[in-house]
Amino acid sequence: MKFFVDSADVEAIAELNDTGLVDGVTTNPSLILKSGRDILEVTKEICDMVDGPVSAEVVALETEAMIAEGRKLAEIAENICIKLPLTMDGLKACKALTSDGFKTNVTLCFSANQALLAAKAGATYISPFIGRLDDINIDGMDLIADIRTIYDNYDFQTQILAASIRSANHMKDAALIGADVATAPPNVIKAMANHVLTDKGLDAFMKDWAKTGQKIL
Ligand code: E4P
Repeated sequence: MKFFVDSADVEAIAELNDTGLVDGVTTNPSLILKSGRDILEVTKEICDMVDGPVSAEVVALETEAMIAEGRKLAEIAENICIKLPLTMDGLKACKALTSDGFKTNVTLCFSANQALLAAKAGATYISPFIGRLDDINIDGMDLIADIRTIYDNYDFQTQILAASIRSANHMKDAALIGADVATAPPNVIKAMANHVLTDKGLDAFMKDWAKTGQKIL
């Protein structure tokens, strides 16, 4: 499973990118607001830093305007992935932009039927939102499983990008189901490395090592 960082915070992305574990970045209008930065400037910085795809979202609601915004965002860098909302206008824009060779990420997906339409529109990625479904007492992970089954039934090449991830458990469950990618906030990706027994074991090893009086270097 590929890991994308769900953030427009350049420092947080840089810290994780340095681990070599980051395969891409996703942003959205709310994350741009949180960054306090100009969308074109901050997206360019992120694109220059990260090798993989960087999703930048259009804000127009009609197809032609979405296509124009998508083309403008794609001028930022080669690794831009144009993010479009899952509406009929967004799907039409997706079809047009994908046919022209752009990478696309269809976002705000909350049902398997929406995901089916995005695959038919040729989306590079579909972003089902797990956490926001969980918030209304619908199991977001069931949606990931349904999309996996449908895409495998028909060999759709659209990649499942599990989004709206809130916990390390979401990452594990998305990986078990076979999501192609998961995008998560930096704190969730870091939390995946934590285990109380790792901390306890390391502490014991360090104490015993000190007692040996030895050095490796
Ligand atoms: C990523 O593409 C989505 O915009 C993001 O994961 C949404 O997450 P949220 O539901 O925590 O805002």
